[in-house]
Amino acid sequence: MVSILMRSHLFLQCLCLLASLSLVFTSQAISIQEASITDLQLASKQNKLTSRQLTKFYLCKICRLNPVVRAIIEVNPDGLKCANRADQESKAKKHDLLSILRGIPILLKDNIGTKDKQNTMAGLFALLGSTVARDAGVVARLRRAGAVILGKANMNEWKSYVLSADPCSISSGSAISVVANMVAVSLGTETNGSILCPASLYSAVGIKPTLGLTSRAGVIPITPRQDTTGPICRTVSDAVYVLDAIVGYDHNDAEATREASKYIPRGGYKVSQSSWSLWQETGQAGAVLVDNLKIKNIDVILNFNLSGKGTAVLAEFKIAQDAYLEELVLRSFADIIAFNQKNSKLQIGQDMFLASEATNGIGDVEKSALFNMANQSRNGFEKLMMQNNLDAIVTPGFEAVLVLAIGKFPGISVPAGYDDKGVPFGICSGGLKGSEPKLIEIAHSFEQATKIRKPPSFKP
Ligand SMILES: *[C@@H]1O[C@H](CO)[C@@H](O)[C@H](O)[C@H]1NC(C)=O
Ligand SMILES: *[C@@H]1O[C@H](CO)[C@@H](O)[C@H](O)[C@H]1NC(C)=O
Ligand SMILES: *[C@@H]1O[C@H](CO)[C@@H](O)[C@H](O)[C@H]1NC(C)=O
Repeated sequence: MVSILMRSHLFLQCLCLLASLSLVFTSQAISIQEASITDLQLASKQNKLTSRQLTKFYLCKICRLNPVVRAIIEVNPDGLKCANRADQESKAKKHDLLSILRGIPILLKDNIGTKDKQNTMAGLFALLGSTVARDAGVVARLRRAGAVILGKANMNEWKSYVLSADPCSISSGSAISVVANMVAVSLGTETNGSILCPASLYSAVGIKPTLGLTSRAGVIPITPRQDTTGPICRTVSDAVYVLDAIVGYDHNDAEATREASKYIPRGGYKVSQSSWSLWQETGQAGAVLVDNLKIKNIDVILNFNLSGKGTAVLAEFKIAQDAYLEELVLRSFADIIAFNQKNSKLQIGQDMFLASEATNGIGDVEKSALFNMANQSRNGFEKLMMQNNLDAIVTPGFEAVLVLAIGKFPGISVPAGYDDKGVPFGICSGGLKGSEPKLIEIAHSFEQATKIRKPPSFKP
């Protein structure tokens, strides 16, 4: 059903493009390709580009590439309307007074709720056609900033994204769409690696914010103890613009967003040019590197059973699902399981669902597991950071995701290179809660000094 739905939207958009696109874009295609938000706003300011043209450009790219890469599950049927509105607002106001995201098309991972004609399913067939109560908190902020919600990015079906799932395939749609220039910027979510891992693997920039810095309200949850929402983009500065637009208090995710708002810098997040120009002048970034440190209890943290992660997540997952599904009015977690039971094709991961359904809230076992995790985080990563007075730990790929996940810590992945088969990899900087300004500085310095990312090429 989903694929039909997806195709019908795409098909309509493709028809509407055939007539206009070749005229408008043959001369401009190269410059929109790989354009940053700053480039796009400059073109808009000089009256060379409207949001409508930009949106059409991306819709056309989606038409051509999505049948091959399948990164997008649904296109917003009102995307062009949103773009028109952004264009009208741009005409009515002075350019400098507009949000930097005004008119910029953005793609959302499929578990991020939109109260519009699009589905919010986390890839879960049982949720097709369900109506969410309201836009997710981050979506409300994006709309206020004038961003154009272009569509929903593919993800693994919900059930296989919970415990032992491969985090790389999970938010891969968001990463693939931006790197393939099918959209300007995108949003992903992370519970254990789903932003940092695809960013690393597809040569994108991903920011996993401190837990609660961005609202999780209206995002189909796994566990509120670890879930975060953050940008996946082509450059650090694009990711920082998106981060700036989505951070802040949300009364629908009150406790976590109130707690984390204290970390938001006055004047917002910025990429600073100073550190990388310093790098170029002196040949070094001015960073003091401390090599070969080891998180003392890393083996415990990485061992699933010992640290009790499984126990807690199973119970938390059920509680979070029931809370989320209650707002959809019609369905409970048990209904979803029953739906899957009836559909033999949807049985993957059902064991884990049943195990979660069999839990009974946070009892002594779960409490002890939660205590152990917090204790391990305090005695591991936090202690290491404090004792060595570190700003960040930098690891290749996405090795540190679990440590960052259980500690609610932020991380940023930037492209770092390609292996001998041409497969990309990134490096990830992680730090203590609220360390985003430092991590952004490190990531941006690295990006500007290396400029290693290339857009993918497609074999004919
Ligand atoms: C979290 O991700 C890491 C890295 O991919 C993986 O080794 C670990 O098993 C995952 N943990 C959970 C609880 O999913
Ligand atoms: C981990 O837990 C599972 C199920 O609780 C058990 O079957 C397995 O033997 C345990 N593994 C270790 C290494 O303790
Ligand atoms: C907390 O963790 C440390 C180091 O991993 C361990 O030595 C200590 O026994 C733990 N505390 C409790 C109360 O479990």
